[in-house]
This record gives sequence, structure tokens and C-alpha cells, in this order.
Amino acid sequence: MRKPIIAGNWKMNKTVGEALAFAEAVKTKIPSKDAVDSVIGSPALFLHGLKEVVKGTDVQLSAQNCYFENAGAFTGENSPAAIADLGVEYVIIGHSERREYFHETDEDINKKAKAIIANGMTPIFCCGESLETYEAGKTAEWIEGQITAGLVDLTAEQVSEMVIAYEPIWAIGTGKSADAAIADEICGVVRATVEKLYGKSVADKVRIQYGGSVKPENIAEYMAKENVDGALVGGASLDAESFLALLEAVK
Ligand code: G3P
Repeated sequence: MRKPIIAGNWKMNKTVGEALAFAEAVKTKIPSKDAVDSVIGSPALFLHGLKEVVKGTDVQLSAQNCYFENAGAFTGENSPAAIADLGVEYVIIGHSERREYFHETDEDINKKAKAIIANGMTPIFCCGESLETYEAGKTAEWIEGQITAGLVDLTAEQVSEMVIAYEPIWAIGTGKSADAAIADEICGVVRATVEKLYGKSVADKVRIQYGGSVKPENIAEYMAKENVDGALVGGASLDAESFLALLEAVK
């Protein structure tokens, strides 16, 4: 049985005050960690303050990116070691916005995955295809390629502990979600790729999220699908009531 994992991805939104007020509002209302992993994916700026607010509760935190070196002359980057030192549990990597606007490659993402794991955190590894690829019927091969390249040299045990998020680019922030059947099919492609690379027991264990216009009103349809173990949620995770409603629908 794979435990559901719901992660909000705030992207570049909120001020420190707004972030801390959100955490105060949700911290005692979220479901038990025994039932669901509830994760806030915050800008790195707020993680320290957020950790202070949620300490001792079941709220978990995620960064939205990090560098692959722990320290050095890398102006403007965030160290995975420093993020881990805050007690942050997850780091999102390979989001399509990072791949597109910041030119991150599969190789960069692979290095980041290794650095995150080496620092005791869990990568939330994103993959997803463009509308053009989807319409050309090439989604499965695209996803297989991103996963194969992104997981290079990771061990079976490391991959089994990871979270992989399938986010079709055409469904992000567009209000146009991939329906639950498509999400299940492509999350199934993710699982089959992991099985091909690492075997069935790893594929059975790895948790796979769907992301793209998930809301409290549609999350249950996704979660009912065999290959969907959670959601990575952008817009609908920004409001405390909405975030709680997503979790309530899952627990
Ligand atoms: O990482 C979450 C994401 O890209 C989906 O965003 O706003 O469509 O839920 P949204």
C-alpha cells in the first residue's frame, strides 16, 4: 500500500507574512501523517520561518529547487545541505517551468536528485510533455526518456523512496486538466519505466503524483486511479482552506 502524498507547489507566490499565516492556519488541521503526507512546496526564502511554525506537527516542507553542490562560489543558488539542515523533507526538481525558463537539462536534474538524496531528503522528480508531443501521440516515449535520463546511476533503493510527479505541460495553470483516465495511463507509463529500469518491487513502491489543474473538486477522481498516489498542486494550494480541502478529500 502506497501512502498518498499531496504537495502544494506555491511557485513564486506569497510574502513571508502570508506564508507564515498560511502555515499557522493549516498546521493543526491537516490529517495525520499516518494517512497522508501533507507537503508545502515553498520558495526557499520562507522555509526557515515555516519550519519554526510547523515544528512538531505533521506538515512537511519542500523546496522548489536547489543546486547540486553543497557549497561554493555559486551566487544566487541554494545549497541542498543548507535546505536539509532546516529539516526540510523534500525538494521538487525538474519542474517544466525550470526546464523551460531556466534551461535545466536532464543531466542537471539527475545531479540535483543525487545531491538531494545524499543530504537525506526526498526528490519530487517532475516529468511531463508539451501539447505538441501529446498531440503527436509521443507522450509515452517522451516520459520514458525523461525518467531514464533523470534517474541515471541512482540505486533501486533510492528510486523506491522517490516521488515522481507527472505534469502534462498543457494542463498546468490552464484549468485544462488531463482527465483521470489519461493521468492514470501516463502515471502507468512512469511506473512501467521504473519497472523496466529497476524491477517490479521498486515500481510497486515508488509514489507517483499527477499535477495539472488539480482542485478540491477533482482530486478524488485522480486519487481513485491505480497508478496515482498523490497530487502536485499549484494554484489550488495557495489558499489555506483549499489546501485543507485537498487533504480532506484524500485521507
Ligand atoms: O507543480 C504544480 C503545477 O505545475 C500544477 O499547477 O496551478 O495547474 O495546479 P496548477
